[in-house]
Amino acid sequence: MAGPFLTTFPRRRRVFTFALFSLFIWAILPIESFNPPRRLLLGITKTVVGKSSDDILQFIDPLIGTVNGGHVFPGATLPYGMAKPVADTNNYGEAASGFVSDDSLITGFSQFHDSGTGGNPSMGNFPLFAHPGCPEDDFVKCHYSAAERAIPRINGSATAKPGYFAIRLSNSVHIEMTSTAHTNLFRFNFPPEAEVPYAYTASDSKDTPQTVPSSPLILLDMIDLGSTRSGGNIEVNATTGRMKGGGGFRPSFGQGSYKAYFCADFHGAEIRRTGTFSRTDATDSVQALGDSYGSARIPQGSAGTWVQFAQASTNQVLARVGVSFISASQACQNAEREVGDFDFSRVVAASEVAWREKLSVIKADHTGLNLDLLTTFWSGLYRTMILPQDYTGENPLWQSDEPYYDSFYCIWDSFRAQHPLLTIIDPETQTDMVRALIDIYKHEGKLPDCRMSFSKGFTQGGSNADVVLADALIKNLTKEIDWSLGYEAVVSDAEEEPSDWSVSGRGGIDSWHKLGYIPVDDDDRKGAGPLSRSISRTVEYAYDDFVIALMARELGHKADEAKYLQRSHNWRNLWNADHEDRYRDKATGKVEGSAFRGFLQPRFTNGTFSEQTARLCSPVYEQHVCYFDTRHSTYEGSPWLYSFYVPQDMASLVSLMGGAEHFVERLDYFHSSGIMYMGNEPNFLPTFQFHYAGRPGRSAYWVHQYIPSLFNSTIGGIPGNDDCAMGAFSAFAFMGFFPVAGQDVYLLTPPIVSGGKHKDTGRERLGYAAQREFRPRVHGYIYPERKA
Ligand SMILES: *[C@@H]1O[C@H](CO)[C@@H](O)[C@H](O)[C@H]1NC(C)=O
Ligand SMILES: *[C@@H]1O[C@H](CO)[C@@H](O)[C@H](O)[C@H]1NC(C)=O
Ligand SMILES: *[C@@H]1O[C@H](CO)[C@@H](O)[C@H](O)[C@H]1NC(C)=O
Ligand SMILES: *[C@@H]1O[C@H](CO)[C@@H](O)[C@H](O)[C@H]1NC(C)=O
Ligand SMILES: *[C@@H]1O[C@H](CO)[C@@H](O)[C@H](O)[C@H]1NC(C)=O
Repeated sequence: MAGPFLTTFPRRRRVFTFALFSLFIWAILPIESFNPPRRLLLGITKTVVGKSSDDILQFIDPLIGTVNGGHVFPGATLPYGMAKPVADTNNYGEAASGFVSDDSLITGFSQFHDSGTGGNPSMGNFPLFAHPGCPEDDFVKCHYSAAERAIPRINGSATAKPGYFAIRLSNSVHIEMTSTAHTNLFRFNFPPEAEVPYAYTASDSKDTPQTVPSSPLILLDMIDLGSTRSGGNIEVNATTGRMKGGGGFRPSFGQGSYKAYFCADFHGAEIRRTGTFSRTDATDSVQALGDSYGSARIPQGSAGTWVQFAQASTNQVLARVGVSFISASQACQNAEREVGDFDFSRVVAASEVAWREKLSVIKADHTGLNLDLLTTFWSGLYRTMILPQDYTGENPLWQSDEPYYDSFYCIWDSFRAQHPLLTIIDPETQTDMVRALIDIYKHEGKLPDCRMSFSKGFTQGGSNADVVLADALIKNLTKEIDWSLGYEAVVSDAEEEPSDWSVSGRGGIDSWHKLGYIPVDDDDRKGAGPLSRSISRTVEYAYDDFVIALMARELGHKADEAKYLQRSHNWRNLWNADHEDRYRDKATGKVEGSAFRGFLQPRFTNGTFSEQTARLCSPVYEQHVCYFDTRHSTYEGSPWLYSFYVPQDMASLVSLMGGAEHFVERLDYFHSSGIMYMGNEPNFLPTFQFHYAGRPGRSAYWVHQYIPSLFNSTIGGIPGNDDCAMGAFSAFAFMGFFPVAGQDVYLLTPPIVSGGKHKDTGRERLGYAAQREFRPRVHGYIYPERKA
């Protein structure tokens, strides 16, 4: 029953056996190993779970990860939906996905978002904003620009569930929102009084409370979160109130630009007047702005249209905003097709059905699990289906019958757990994503390593889409995937250097082929890109070549298989057996460190080793010097971390680190010393790598250290930016297995069970695996070498 502990090179056919074994082992092992037996029984099913007291949607809290750097999008979305409304805040450092659960001000309710991404605010185009009325009933006196209209929320009023988001503002407007695939539907609830208490600005709410006559004004701003727009057009129809338009924007972590469009209609109240605004100034005599409208040029930043209503008889105004990347008229068509009825409850219910159906492939016995754990588990699963986004039918770049997915943001993060999870729980969509990746290769010449908003994103390390493709092929996702084109794509990564490898493919191809590593002083004449990251690019290229060898094997390319297997050994070229774990503590000036010796180190072209402190770029030593613009040899992690990244040849690594016992000692030290940083995806696999030294119990031990202490159901309950990957890590850990992406290998641990207190001892049961070392009878280990 040695599912993951293969003694021969893996073959495709085994994968489903593994899955079966995994299920079997979940069910059996805890009974043998623990007392009292409490089981999380999971099975892949197709039954749709009905609405009931154990409706899984009640365990999903989209607000998890909306502070503390999680950058999670908590708004309404369908699984992989393109339309994503939420309240945007002006905490731009945290607002990568628009909303932040803090005291920052609300600037509007925009139409597109990404989720969980690092760094810059992403998308957030075309926010709506609502005033309950204007001072002295004069529309000029309402606030229009994003900076001026920003207003406090009512504390604790943000409500989020799958398909629904709502918030109450201090201007007494309560806004609810939901979405279909390409349309957002907003319900603005205004107070019934004829005179409305009105917080004019953030400071007015405290200092000069005033009232205004109830006459709602809703504006639509052409701005996005990063204020990246240039040009564009917008118009409002004075009779119908319909607003439509679009503009050009820049992607948040990539090159180039993209165009986005919208079409907004209103329902529920009589129109009094309409107009436009440019920055802070509004007029009712101009009904259109932009390049197409002669003199009324559209400035950068805030500019848009508005419509003012008579007091609504139901005190509600609905706003339906269709979106498109093709044209404003396609945005209108999307809206009319998907939400012809303006029926808010129907749209919410349809979204719930879609989520319930997606998640119902997993059946869990909740007995004995506390609410915190259940919420952590299901919410993490939910977040794995927010990105990538399904933009099929909305791709302006090329004509194709293939599906088009975008927001692979970034594959460097998502290949490790999210895509392997989707391969199991949503193989249809994962298949479409792989087809989309291959179609991107076909039309743009390379697979992306990161992609957002129809733009090439920056490559952080290797060409890791290779692993996504290999993982899908190894796990038998074959339906309608053109694997010969897919294979051509990964070979292109391995063999052909693009002229700009900062956004696709690999750099230093000549050195890679000739020297077998990326030298720290690489003289790359073929293309341009950041010539840093000697270590991390070397180990990622080596693993990427390994999975290409696996694909070559599947597809019958024998010579290639041998070639890429050979290159997959290149990581060894950077192994410096003499490098010591020493660093000078900035505060004390003392040399500190540990006795561990032997790390991956950067190397010059002439073969001499250069040097990088083994802890550099870890939380204990200069963590923040290894981002995209780094001059160091590792990316977002230390040589300590990267020295474990050899999933293709753990046998050699364990032996280089002094054998199984020393390997375990070193990996334990990695976890206990603070060098490890669970907030970043490369740290996932080292949590489970004790398996390769025959000590899966240590993997289980560390899993239980991190859940729930770092992954939990609080709003700050994610250790780093989510990337839609953190939830995949915790979901796997709950279910008791973890993928070695690109291989048909899963590392098994006891599933997380328990919750509540032990009836005799009163002790919290969670963490019992931490106290009792778990030793299965199977001791096979180490990924085997195979003679080429
Ligand atoms: C792999 O997929 C093919 C085509 O969908 C199918 O015929 C075959 O049975 C699958 N193999 C396994 C082991 O599931
Ligand atoms: C919301 O609560 C926080 C404390 O959590 C407080 O600092 C802030 O002033 C409150 N904001 C409003 C608008 O009441
Ligand atoms: C406004 O919409 C109405 C109804 O569709 C249409 O007849 C009219 O021409 C539009 N006005 C403008 C200025 O486009
Ligand atoms: C190799 O090159 C590096 C950097 O130019 C230099 O410091 C080192 O001395 C060279 N080693 C040898 C053996 O020439
Ligand atoms: C929840 O997770 C966060 C982020 O990892 C962590 O900072 C916090 O301490 C955890 N809270 C609890 C109660 O475990």
